[in-house]
Amino acid sequence: MVFFRLSPVPGSGLVLLCLVLGAVSSYSLELNLTNSEKNICLYAKWQMNFRIRYETTSKNYKFVTISDLANATYNGSICGDDQNGPKIVVQFGSVFSWVVNFTKDVSTYSIDIISFSYDTSDNTTFPDAKEKGIFTVYNPVAFGIPLNDIFRCSSMSTLEKNDVVQYYWDVHVQAFVQNGTVSTKEFLCDKDKTSTTAVPTVHTTVPSTTMPTPKEKPEVGSYSVNNGNGTCLLATMGLQLNITQEKLKNVLLTLTSTFLFLLQWVWPWASL
Ligand SMILES: *[C@@H]1O[C@H](CO)[C@@H](O)[C@H](O)[C@H]1NC(C)=O
Ligand SMILES: *[C@@H]1O[C@H](CO)[C@@H](O)[C@H](O)[C@H]1NC(C)=O
Ligand SMILES: *[C@@H]1O[C@H](CO)[C@@H](O)[C@H](O)[C@H]1NC(C)=O
Ligand SMILES: *[C@@H]1O[C@H](CO)[C@@H](O)[C@H](O)[C@H]1NC(C)=O
Ligand SMILES: *[C@@H]1O[C@H](CO)[C@@H](O)[C@H](O)[C@H]1NC(C)=O
Ligand SMILES: *[C@@H]1O[C@H](CO)[C@@H](O)[C@H](O)[C@H]1NC(C)=O
Ligand SMILES: *[C@@H]1O[C@H](CO)[C@@H](O)[C@H](O)[C@H]1NC(C)=O
Ligand SMILES: *[C@@H]1O[C@H](CO)[C@@H](O)[C@H](O)[C@H]1NC(C)=O
Repeated sequence: MVFFRLSPVPGSGLVLLCLVLGAVSSYSLELNLTNSEKNICLYAKWQMNFRIRYETTSKNYKFVTISDLANATYNGSICGDDQNGPKIVVQFGSVFSWVVNFTKDVSTYSIDIISFSYDTSDNTTFPDAKEKGIFTVYNPVAFGIPLNDIFRCSSMSTLEKNDVVQYYWDVHVQAFVQNGTVSTKEFLCDKDKTSTTAVPTVHTTVPSTTMPTPKEKPEVGSYSVNNGNGTCLLATMGLQLNITQEKLKNVLLTLTSTFLFLLQWVWPWASL
């Protein structure tokens, strides 16, 4: 059984950006999975969004940002059994699905693999896509957490693979919950440990075995922030800043994380 809740979250950069442009779209996903004895086996609450690059028929690249998960469903999410660990399956729209599964060891449990699929044959989300079909990216995370601890990471984590960048923040998750009681003992991600202030730092990279993607050059193209059935930002960017990566990094580091987050949407290459 799946119990879930969606709450609009004020305060994230994207919300700010969309507020400015007249639409709100950031949701915190929350779910409790329960086993046959109606005990909670897995608790998760998190925020995420995605930036997808695709090639158009006119050989340009377009970017789509998926951030409105308001109508997310959790079909397929299971507590698992002795053979298979638990997994969270999230569908949003008819175009996207997201799966994370967990494994257990003697004293730890791990977030195993995050996979994300999108269907470019949906021509409202991916207008003029050159290649139509379902694409899936797998991000092995293999991140271990002590059993009976709840993992928390308020900081931003980024996963990059092929044409997809995934952003995660405000993450709380505990799999293999014992006796149906979600732990109060938190296991923090490194980025949360080092940030002494409450200001979340941007761009933690979750340890992963993925190949580092080569630094992208600034790309000219259209960028849109998709809020589900509409678009709250659409801009064509043809601007190249004459600033070195290093300088840019220093400049960025002095900015607040919210603004940084906002920047990513305006200048997606600025974060690389
Ligand atoms: C999930 O369970 C926790 C702990 O029992 C509770 O605080 C929370 O409200 C529940 N959330 C949902 C969406 O049912
Ligand atoms: C999820 O399951 C419910 C009930 O079984 C069904 O009505 C709904 O269509 C399913 N949604 C998806 C996206 O599969
Ligand atoms: C997790 O899912 C991936 C593919 O989605 C699969 O290859 C892997 O075996 C799964 N791991 C577990 C522990 O179920
Ligand atoms: C989108 O796809 C549908 C069905 O494949 C087609 O009928 C429609 O003309 C397409 N729309 C655009 C704008 O290409
Ligand atoms: C779960 O319950 C068992 C038996 O009541 C107890 O021995 C164990 O310590 C409990 N585990 C946790 C994590 O509370
Ligand atoms: C969410 O679902 C409701 C009811 O099915 C629908 O009216 C609404 O347009 C959907 N919103 C989004 C953003 O897909
Ligand atoms: C999505 O569309 C539905 C129906 O047209 C509308 O009621 C809803 O407000 C829209 N949601 C957003 C976020 O624009
Ligand atoms: C960028 O700036 C450097 C020095 O600040 C200058 O040498 C170079 O010509 C500039 N490049 C462009 C494309 O304007």
